[in-house]
Amino acid sequence: MPYAGGYQSQVFAAGGSPFPFTVQGLEDAAREKLPAPHFDYIAGGAGRERTVAANVDAFARWGLNYRILRDGKPGVPSYTVLDTPMAMPVLLAPAGVADLAHPEAERAAARAAADTGVVQVLSSATSTALEDVAEAAPEGRRWFQFAWPDDEKLARSLIDRAENAGYSAIVLQGDCHVAGWRTRELDSAFFPFQRAHGMGNYLSDRRFRELAVMGPRPARGAALDPAEVVAAAATWNRLYTRPALHPGDLALLRAWTDLPVIVKGVCRPDEATLLADAGADALIVSNHGGRQLDSGLAALDCLPGVVAAVGGRVPVLFDSGIRTGTDVLIALALGASAVMIGRPWLYGLAIGGQEGVTHVLRCLEAEFTGALALTGHRDPATLSPADLTPVTTPSNRRAR
Ligand SMILES: Cc1cc2nc3c(=O)[nH]c(=O)nc-3n(C[C@H](O)[C@H](O)[C@H](O)COP(=O)(O)O)c2cc1C
Repeated sequence: MPYAGGYQSQVFAAGGSPFPFTVQGLEDAAREKLPAPHFDYIAGGAGRERTVAANVDAFARWGLNYRILRDGKPGVPSYTVLDTPMAMPVLLAPAGVADLAHPEAERAAARAAADTGVVQVLSSATSTALEDVAEAAPEGRRWFQFAWPDDEKLARSLIDRAENAGYSAIVLQGDCHVAGWRTRELDSAFFPFQRAHGMGNYLSDRRFRELAVMGPRPARGAALDPAEVVAAAATWNRLYTRPALHPGDLALLRAWTDLPVIVKGVCRPDEATLLADAGADALIVSNHGGRQLDSGLAALDCLPGVVAAVGGRVPVLFDSGIRTGTDVLIALALGASAVMIGRPWLYGLAIGGQEGVTHVLRCLEAEFTGALALTGHRDPATLSPADLTPVTTPSNRRAR
């Protein structure tokens, strides 16, 4: 009986791992490691966090159909979405201010992603400039999540920089036209951007510095003086992001870049249709991990409608609530081409930097690969709703 992905064998051979394997263990370890406001910024969501909980709980309403007397040998070794090869259909979701979790932030994540063959989707609001992240793992594959700033020259500068640094797709953030009501942040009065966290791409941008009336970019790693922090935070707050975006704006983005354009944050079938008509190359069903709108639908419940509306015209990716390899399988069976994880990689980063992120990805890979074989598949592309049975009274609800 082989261990899928090989990670189990390695863990047993090494006599264990410094990192936890359960979902709850990972979150608890991150909570223990980080200052409370940092942990709360990462873990928290909007309002009462009902959407955050719904995202995770939705997976327990599906049971995977188990199949026996099958071939357990490794199947398809890699996977491709929008011409980007990936070792498994899991990407690192864009997450700003990763330096709240670990000083090596996105660079550590870039190295972990490159080591595991996973695509890193880099946030606009990173701690580190996008060029420096690319340089940290030149062999890695990466897409750039674009938060459209309210200044056209800055917008074009960010897109050009991403393209020049080797990012191979633009992921347009569609769901941040207003800030979520984040109660944990309010309780701790900790808003990272007020302290110039998450501005790596802006502080390194000539146009941003011009708008913030700051001098030329200082040497890498040089600290900002307090007046610069105030100027940068005020300018960022004013420009991040354009308050209004429409499907028609995709045409402008297309005029600026030849890279594929993916829209993130789609939850409604009618909007999915409009975006596919407007020329989006792919969509990401996501509710931002429940960080924007409370009392929202679970993202997973939005997935089948969007997949049906798009009718195979463009790939549909998914995030919000993926915690395990079997969650990946469920989302793929419901029609996702690939999924992204947000908090799990940040927790991994918090507890072990690059190694922690690698651990999270290898756990997902091993569990996903094993579950794929146990449901009778050798290629994720053959998953379908026939692999699932709705569970009306979830007995498997409590995630550890
Ligand atoms: C701390 C944190 C920061 C995030 N920053 C961004 C961001 O800058 N841009 C973006 O599009 N999404 C951002 N997200 C949302 C993620 O891309 C993703 O949609 C979400 O985390 C998925 O849900 P999950 O955390 O349940 O996996 C952030 C999420 C977290 C937890």
